[in-house]
Amino acid sequence: MDRIRIIGGTRLEGTIPISGAKNAALPLMIASLLTSETLTLENVPQLADVVQLGRILGNHGVDLAIAGKRPGQAVNSGQTFRLTAAEIVDTVAPYEMVSRMRASFWVLGPLVARMGEAKVSLPGGCAIGTRPVDLHLEALRCLGAEIDLEGGYVLAKAPGGLTGGRIDFPKVSVGATHNALMAAALARGESVIGNAAREPEIGDVAECLVKMGAKIEGIGTSTLLIQGAGELKGAVHAVLPDRIETGTYAMAVAATGGDVLLDNARADLLESVLDVLRTAGVEITITNHGIRVARNGAGLNPVSVETQPFPGFPTDMQAQLMALMSLADGTSDIRETIFENRFMHVQELARLGAEIDLDGDLARVSGVKGLHGAQVMATDLRASVSLVIAGLAAEGETIINRVYHLDRGFERIEEKLSRCGAQIERLSA
Ligand code: UD1
Repeated sequence: MDRIRIIGGTRLEGTIPISGAKNAALPLMIASLLTSETLTLENVPQLADVVQLGRILGNHGVDLAIAGKRPGQAVNSGQTFRLTAAEIVDTVAPYEMVSRMRASFWVLGPLVARMGEAKVSLPGGCAIGTRPVDLHLEALRCLGAEIDLEGGYVLAKAPGGLTGGRIDFPKVSVGATHNALMAAALARGESVIGNAAREPEIGDVAECLVKMGAKIEGIGTSTLLIQGAGELKGAVHAVLPDRIETGTYAMAVAATGGDVLLDNARADLLESVLDVLRTAGVEITITNHGIRVARNGAGLNPVSVETQPFPGFPTDMQAQLMALMSLADGTSDIRETIFENRFMHVQELARLGAEIDLDGDLARVSGVKGLHGAQVMATDLRASVSLVIAGLAAEGETIINRVYHLDRGFERIEEKLSRCGAQIERLSA
């Protein structure tokens, strides 16, 4: 298994190109199931999760063609995918596939909407809490699907197709909103989704569905009004920049000191993260090209943060913030309110010298003068990258084991960081 070796202590300087968002690319790829025409997606990041989802969709009959670079196209611009589900050949998503990536469960809504039936395994994914799917199932029931659970599988049926309905989520869920939105776009009639997640990736999918022929009002708000199209057509859509990748590199720059332009980043996607960084004393400048992050010699102030659905501070940035606050001049409080059990990075950060006390959903981080290199283990996607941040700031050598978690969500991370002066390399097994 690949490992990552970092010699810490170097300031980051230069430019880091921000890739297309994983959490938008995945549902956008799934949206290809909604039409027999070709959905062209630009700026798709090169990630293990994207490859895996391509395979899963292939199983259902989606033909995926990856276009080559056009002359004049920047080396760092993402891939262009042409996805065509001319015919759905299989409405079953088996355990072996779905258990490897939770987002693939989201094929449920599109499949039942288009084919009137679907059988999808209950998901797996990152080990960060129980992550039930009750909200997904309830949403599809509201659109007229009959749902049964059998042998670890969800069976959804709507022989006459889905019909518009009213969904009121008791809790904000990104995945359930995606599932409901995609299904409602193809259902007959009007649907309302109340208490919808407002994450920018939902808006990106909604914009794409509009290009495909759905009528959607309230994009970016917590109430979505959808006029189902009954049939959708092909479209061309570019994946929005990854706000979690942006915030992650911003924290890496803050942790090591340095001065980096996050090229193609969009500040409006991560205001809450930028606010926290400003409070910590990091210099943030919004430019025409992206976001410039700098910390030159000044110390880091401690912060008090609670994870919340968008526009609040993202749970996907919690581990990275904890790595950064390990180096602050004082004690920070970081509360995780979205997922239970999302503190697995704490014991690994402690191996690098961080001082963190856990009390239920609260982590109290006492800043230390410096971290030191050690052998650590990646446990989930965002936790792994918090170890990269800590390793970059630590003195000496850090070896991160099980880096396949990183490859699921961060494109060419060693290359992007080493171009800014980091000493980081992949040790292939
Ligand atoms: C998505 C993101 C993930 C991010 C998370 C929260 C993708 C591919 N993944 O995951 O990176 O960390 O949003 O921003 O976009 N819940 C239920 N019942 C359900 C569904 C969810 O109780 O049916 C709960 C979950 O256990 C969790 C909370 O709702 O406590 C939020 O989860 P959700 O927003 O659904 O996360 P995902 O869509 O899985």
